[in-house]
Amino acid sequence: MMQGHYHVCFLVIVLSSILLNVGNAKDLRTVTEPKNPQSCTTLKAGSGDQTTTIQKALDSCAKGKAVELSSGTFESGPLTIPSGVSLLVDSGAILKALPNPTLYDLGAKTCGTRDQYGVGCKAFITIHGATGSGIYGKGTIDGQGGQTMTGKSETWWKLAASAKEHNDYQNVPRLIQINDSVDITLYQITLKNSPMYHVATSKTNGLTVWGITINTPSTARNTDGVDPMGSQNVTIAHCSISTGDDNVAIKAISSPSRYISVLNNHFGTGHGMSIGSEITYGASDVTVSGLTMDGTTNGLRIKSNTFRGGLVTGVSYTNVCMTGVKHPIMLDMEYGHNVTGHLTPEFRDITFTNVKVLTEGTFTFDGLSDSNPIEVTMNDVHIKKGSKWVASHAKIAGKWAEDVTGTVCKNAGN
Ligand SMILES: *[C@@H]1O[C@H](CO)[C@@H](O)[C@H](O)[C@H]1NC(C)=O
Ligand SMILES: *[C@@H]1O[C@H](CO)[C@@H](O)[C@H](O)[C@H]1NC(C)=O
Ligand SMILES: *[C@@H]1O[C@H](CO)[C@@H](O)[C@H](O)[C@H]1NC(C)=O
Repeated sequence: MMQGHYHVCFLVIVLSSILLNVGNAKDLRTVTEPKNPQSCTTLKAGSGDQTTTIQKALDSCAKGKAVELSSGTFESGPLTIPSGVSLLVDSGAILKALPNPTLYDLGAKTCGTRDQYGVGCKAFITIHGATGSGIYGKGTIDGQGGQTMTGKSETWWKLAASAKEHNDYQNVPRLIQINDSVDITLYQITLKNSPMYHVATSKTNGLTVWGITINTPSTARNTDGVDPMGSQNVTIAHCSISTGDDNVAIKAISSPSRYISVLNNHFGTGHGMSIGSEITYGASDVTVSGLTMDGTTNGLRIKSNTFRGGLVTGVSYTNVCMTGVKHPIMLDMEYGHNVTGHLTPEFRDITFTNVKVLTEGTFTFDGLSDSNPIEVTMNDVHIKKGSKWVASHAKIAGKWAEDVTGTVCKNAGN
């Protein structure tokens, strides 16, 4: 009898831990803390443009190993990390992106200018068609978005601000672009001052972003932190992200994004934890767990419109705490002023569990129509008395209450 009982207990524990794993981690891989690869070569900073030295070292590095930047300031133009190879930036080293638009120009001589497209520059670091590459180390990669562009009179960020005024697009480099790749790792690195998005992926399966820091001013336009686009099996864990646009934005412009885990992160300034608005191919199986947001403009946000469309489903937000966030929850099927088309965005099976919002804010649930509402479930959602709750075309199941107390988030993230 005793033994039978013991077995039942054991089974219950095993089953519930399996269920917990499924509930908490949507990345289908088993992801553990990365380890720095061994170096194939170690470089010390020289003076002037180091592009050729670094690129040569990367191109001749054995697969599975890393080019190590050991100390000093390296100035460089765009770099490509080959398949299987990594870059390791040690704590004493800084890799700076030279602010010279001609180095990044894709051929149309538009990099560093504004136009109707905004696609004139390549990224500072490109990983394309690679398997098992990465960027590691406790050093810093600085995009120098606030530096005056070579041969121009304004900074990359000023150009971005001016594009907003003129209602067109800035041609400026992203910091790290990862396309059509498999099992890519970013570990511990500090990224700052990107002229545009810091990390963007396209059609990449297997991405681990672990323990990185992004630290860029809130005024720097379009400087998203980490944007998985059309990518699957993604884990973003133990990161600290402060920037001038979405801290994390999951998008799906040309293929679906799914199996994404955003675990134990801390966001400072920025536009929050977003899905959309470029979400035409849909996002599903996303878990956001253990997130603290301190001073972002939005908190948990899903945005689309009839121009973008997209099915967003199977999204769970668990153990989230926010302070100083104006729009703690913002689910919007009519995002962007007057952006309309013929597609139908759908947001359903969205769950909020143990969410605490310590300061007053506006909660928005803006569905498309009664036949296409936003469908969400709330468990254990506690918000500040005096908050605004705006819901139209929304089915909100479960419970929430204006009963939160306390002023400091404890251990929700990081
Ligand atoms: C995601 O990871 C699982 C588990 O490793 C794997 O079976 C699956 O093929 C991966 N999906 C993609 C699209 O790579
Ligand atoms: C990476 O993918 C994006 C989005 O699909 C595309 O705009 C960009 O040109 C690609 N970059 C490279 C280097 O392939
Ligand atoms: C949206 O369209 C309406 C009607 O055409 C117009 O009055 C309004 O100014 C537009 N709003 C914006 C932000 O473009």
